[in-house]
Amino acid sequence: MSARVRPLLETDLERVVAIERATFPTPWTRGMFVDELLQGRSRAWFVADSPWGLLGYAGLMEVDGEGHILNLAVRGDARGRGIGAALLEAVFDEALRRELARLTLEVRPSNVAARAMYAAAGFSEEGRRPGYYADSGEDAIVMWTGPLSSEGMQIAMSAVSKRAADIGAVTIERDGSGLEATSSNDVILAIETSCDETAAAVLRGGREVLSSVVASQVDFHARFGGVVPEIASRKHVEAISGVVDEALTLAGIGLRDVTAIAVTYGPGLVGALVVGVAYAKGLALASGLPLVGVNHLEGHLFANVLKEPDIEPPLVALLVSGGHTSLIHVPAWGEYHTLGSTLDDAAGEAFDKVAKALGLGYPGGPAISRLAVDGDAAAIPFPRAMINTADLDFSLSGLKTAVITYIRKEEQAGRELNLPDISASFQAAVIDVQVSKALRAVAETGVSTFLIGGGVSANPALRAALTTAMNARGVRVSVPPFDLCTDNAAMIAAAAHFRLGRGETLGPSAEAIPDLRLG
Ligand code: KG4
Ligand code: ZN
Repeated sequence: MSARVRPLLETDLERVVAIERATFPTPWTRGMFVDELLQGRSRAWFVADSPWGLLGYAGLMEVDGEGHILNLAVRGDARGRGIGAALLEAVFDEALRRELARLTLEVRPSNVAARAMYAAAGFSEEGRRPGYYADSGEDAIVMWTGPLSSEGMQIAMSAVSKRAADIGAVTIERDGSGLEATSSNDVILAIETSCDETAAAVLRGGREVLSSVVASQVDFHARFGGVVPEIASRKHVEAISGVVDEALTLAGIGLRDVTAIAVTYGPGLVGALVVGVAYAKGLALASGLPLVGVNHLEGHLFANVLKEPDIEPPLVALLVSGGHTSLIHVPAWGEYHTLGSTLDDAAGEAFDKVAKALGLGYPGGPAISRLAVDGDAAAIPFPRAMINTADLDFSLSGLKTAVITYIRKEEQAGRELNLPDISASFQAAVIDVQVSKALRAVAETGVSTFLIGGGVSANPALRAALTTAMNARGVRVSVPPFDLCTDNAAMIAAAAHFRLGRGETLGPSAEAIPDLRLG
C-alpha cells in the first residue's frame, strides 16, 4: 500500500469533509474548508492520497512567524499506518521552509493516539484551555514544539516513522518539495517569451484571467518576412518588465498577492526563452515565491480549459502553430503521446510562406483566412499530401511548393492573381488533411473529446470544419477563445496551475530548453 502527500485541492473537499465528519464530534463544514483555501499564503493544507482514496489531511496556519496546526485527521480504516506522521512531516517541512519559529496545536486529552504521535514528534504539553470543546466540555491540551531546526525535525520524524514502521506503515511518497499552499484560489503570475510575443498574465484559481498582456513584436519582424531571433531577444529584454508590471496593475494586485511565478521554459527560440526564464527566476528569488516551468505546447492545450473548464481527458488534441503540427493523445492531463506530426513544415509556417509569396506580409495566417472568406475553395486543386496514408503524420512542404509554383505560372502568363481563390483553395487543402487525420486519430484512440490549440486554431474555417466533422461522429470539440489561440501568458498560467497543484516547481538552476518535448 502506498500513499502520496500533496497539496489540498478544491476537488478533494468532498472526501475531506467525509473524513472530518467521521472523525470529530464538531466537524468543520465544507464552507470552513473553502474559506481556508481562500486564505492564500497564510495557510498550507496537505492531503495523503492513495489508490484507495483520500486517507487524511492536515492544515497549517502561519501567524506572526509561528505555525498553528489547524487540523489533522486520518480516515478510520487507515489509522496506525503512518499517514498522520507523513502529514505531520509535510507540515514540519513547510514550517521549516517558511522559517517559522515553533509549531503549536490543540488536542483532546482523550485522543491518546494523537497525543502520543505529537509527543514522539517533539511536541510537549504546555497548557490547557479549560472546557474548550463545546460538545463534551473537555479541556484542550495545548502543545508546542521547541525552536524548529532541520536537524531537530529529522530526529523527531525518524522517531515518529519508527513508531509507524513498528505498526505496519504504508509507503509514503512526498510530492515535490517546498510548495506553497496551492488551492483553488492560487494567484499565478505567468511569463511567456518563447517566440515573438512578450506576454504576462495573472490568473486566479486556474480559471479566472485577471489580466493578460501581450506585447507583439510582429511589426518589427514583418519587414523581414518572419521572426528574426536576434531582434526577438532584444525586444523581449526591452519589453518584459513593462509587460509584467502592466499585468500586475491591470489585475489590481502586487507581487505580495501572488502564489507562484510561472514561465515558459521551452520549446522556442533559445535567445527568446532565456529572457523570460531569467526574469522569472529573478522575480521568484527576490520574492521567495515558487517558480513553475511550463511547456509552451501544454500551455496551448490549457487555453481551452480557460474557456471550457469541464473539458477533461481522455481526449485527442491537434496542435497547430507556427512551429508545430501534431496530433496528441491525452489519456490524462500531463500525459501526452504524440500520434503523428508534420514531416516537414508546420501548418502555420505553410500559411506564412504562402502569404509571403502572395505579398501579404507576416504573419500570413490571419491575412489568408480573411481573403479566403470571399474565395472559391474548389477553384484550384492543390494537393492533399498524405491524406490517405494509414499513419497520423502530415507533410505540408509539397503543398506550399505547389502554391508557389502556381503563383509563378500565373504571373509568367501575365494573369492577375485571384488572391481570394488562391487563399481559399490553399486553406481547403490544409484543412482537408487536418480533418481527415484528426478523425482517424479519434477513431483509433476511441476518445469522445477533441481539442485544438496553437496559433492556427484561430482559423475560422479550420475550427468550423473540425467541429462539423467531429460532432457528426458524436465527438465533443473544444476550440480556444480567439484571443488565446496565438501566444499569450494566460494559457501558460492555466498550465502552471495544474503543475503547481501537483507540486511541480523548478529549482534555482532552471534553464530554458529550446527543444523541450511534450510528454
Ligand atoms: O502559436 P503561435 O502564436 O506561435 C507559435 O507557437 O508558433 O502561432 C503562430 C502561427 C503563425 O504561423 C500564424 O500565421 C498562424 O499561427 N495563424 C493562423 C491564423 N492566425 C494565426 N493561421 C491560419 N489562420 C489564422 N487565422
Ligand atoms: Zn505558440
